[in-house]
Formats: sequence, C-alpha cells, structure tokens
Amino acid sequence: MAGLYFHEKGYQYFRAIFGKANQWALHDYETVVHAGQAIMTRFKIPSLYKSYSRYLRSLNIKRSVFSLQFDSPITFAAFESHFDSLALWLNLGCGGGCIKTIKYNEHAGNPRPRMQNISINGIEHLINALGLPGPGVNSFIEKVKQSHIPTRLCPIGFSIGGQSLAEYQQVAQALIPYITADIRQPYIEINISCPNTTTGTSMHDNIDDIEALIRTIRKLTPIVLVIKVSPDATNENLCDIAKLATEFDCVTINAGNTQLKSTTDVGLKPHQISIGKGGVSGPSLFDRTLDMANVLSQFRLPLISTGGITNAFQIEQLLNSGVAVVGMATQLVKNPFSVIRMNNELHNKLNHH
Ligand SMILES: Cc1cc2nc3c(=O)[nH]c(=O)nc-3n(C[C@H](O)[C@H](O)[C@H](O)COP(=O)(O)O)c2cc1C
Repeated sequence: MAGLYFHEKGYQYFRAIFGKANQWALHDYETVVHAGQAIMTRFKIPSLYKSYSRYLRSLNIKRSVFSLQFDSPITFAAFESHFDSLALWLNLGCGGGCIKTIKYNEHAGNPRPRMQNISINGIEHLINALGLPGPGVNSFIEKVKQSHIPTRLCPIGFSIGGQSLAEYQQVAQALIPYITADIRQPYIEINISCPNTTTGTSMHDNIDDIEALIRTIRKLTPIVLVIKVSPDATNENLCDIAKLATEFDCVTINAGNTQLKSTTDVGLKPHQISIGKGGVSGPSLFDRTLDMANVLSQFRLPLISTGGITNAFQIEQLLNSGVAVVGMATQLVKNPFSVIRMNNELHNKLNHH
C-alpha cells in the first residue's frame, strides 16, 4: 500500500504538470490525454498492477446485472478505447466496463480542439465534443482481438452508436458474432445519449426505433443489453424507455451520460471547443445521477448509474436506491488509484451492516 501511495502521488504530479502545460501552451486537453496514454504504453504501466486485482474477490463486493458477474460495483464507463488504459483500470479493481462507442464506418469525429479541462465550483471537470471518432466496427474488432480484452473474465461491454436505426443495426450485426464467440461475459450498450453528434440523442424520442433495434439484436443473441440514456432527458421519457426495457429479457438501463453545455456556459471561449458546445462530465453530474436512479427504481431493473461519481459514499447511496453497478469516467482520468480505496471502503460499508 505504501508503494501505491507514491504511484498515486506520482500520477497526480504528472497530471498537474501536463495540466499546466495545457493551460499555458497547448490549449487542447486531448493532447494531454494522448501524452499520458503514450507514457502508459511505453512504460507498460498496467503490468505493474497485474496481480493486484486478485484482492477484489476477497472483498466480497460482487454485484450482478442479470447473468453478468462483476467482482466490484465499479466499472469504467464507455469513454475510452485505449486498451492499456482499460487494462490499468481493470488491474486496479474495476469489476468490468464498457469500451467507447463504436460506429459502423471510420469517423474522424469533430475538429479539434474538442476536449478541455474546466473548473465548476472550483472542482475539476471535463467537457468534450469528440463526436464519436473511431476506426469503424470491423477494424475495431481486429484491434480487440489483438488486445488483452479476450483474456478477461469480467463483463466487458461494447457500446454501439449510429446516425440511424439502420447503422445501429449494422454495428450490432457485425459485432455480435465476434463478441459472443470470443469474450467471456460480453454485453452490448446502446448509446442513445451522445450529445456531440447531430443524431446522437435522437433515439430518445423515437422509442419505436429502440424497440426495433432490441428486436434485431434479440434475433441474434440473448446477451445482456443496456440502453444508455441521457441526464438531459425528462423523467417521463426515461420512464418510457425503462418500461420498454422491462418488456424484454435481460435488457436494462445505464442512467447517465454527459450533460450538454455551451462553451460560454462553462467559462470557456467559444472556439475552445470547435463546435462551441460539448458534454460536461464530472462531480456536478452526481445529483442528477442519483435523481435518475430514484426515478427508475420503480422498474426493478438491475440499473447501471453513471455520472459524477467520485467516492464510495456516493456508490453506497446508489446501491441503496436499487442500482446494481456504477460507471465512472472522469474520476478514472483524475485518479485511477482511487478505485482501490473505494473498493476497500465498499467492503467495509457492504459487509458491516
Ligand atoms: C472524453 C470522453 C469521451 C466519452 N465518450 C463516450 C462514448 O463514446 N460513449 C458513451 O456512451 N459515453 C461517452 N462518454 C460519457 C461517459 O461514458 C460518462 O457517461 C460521462 O463522462 C459521465 O460520467 P463521469 O461524470 O464519471 O465522467 C465520454 C466521456 C468523456 C469524458
């Protein structure tokens, strides 16, 4: 644990230096993220923690979402596909997680800059308008095959996105044969809550399309399906989608994504995000995340909750509201080592009641 303390401090120190460099010279937080990822890969950082997650089993904090078995309620949310980052988070004690949303064809996403570090009430947050860049589903599958992902025993989610129902269907059709053959505990997350593309949230208002997509997927596989909904949606809309989920086997909701804000709303100059707006992530989202969990608890689904989670107390609150597991993004960027602390605290909270 003492060694870990220094690793954590070292990580925070490097982040602070890169953060300053960004503030004074780079003005594009994506460069900072890429630099961190390059260091992680070059120095094989995840391998330092390879045997570390073995401690998870002994903590007795397992959770399930239908047939999926998570050794911890903490999962990484769909926001990254840098495989060494995913390895680090799993090795540090995430019970599983979902890989960043993939579309059918290769996409460059929005022009840069499209990610910035911001302060809300003096606390660090992120705003991004990446716009779902990615290699397209077939190249993505090849990359997954070459990665550590097929060796993992924990649940691994594959998030799908698209411009239209037909594109979501194409992505699912391309992914399903591969993931059901090669991944031990695969699940699919349907991302209908991306605020950074013109059609990223349009399925929210088109429940017939969501239903058609579930039916297409169900013809191919019985694996767990998760519909990832937006905190910007109305409670009524969220309930309509949750009700649809209850009409199928093994379909649930991931309640929470980024909240759409303009650059000027968050104290940036308009051009600091190329499209003038983006999705805010980080601590200020938590109140809405808890609110959504409470609104959706009536449906008795094994919910996933995502948005603004930074500590074990918040996770306990969500679990007490009927949530099965939580997703985390910004906190993993800020301090991935905090997963170890949160798991230990959850062990104490969940086993001494
Ligand atoms: C850089 C970045 C990229 C993201 N990309 C995706 C994505 O591809 N698909 C998705 O469903 N959510 C995406 N998200 C949203 C996160 O999965 C998560 O729902 C959101 O950040 C709120 O959680 P947090 O407050 O713990 O960060 C992204 C978030 C960030 C910060």
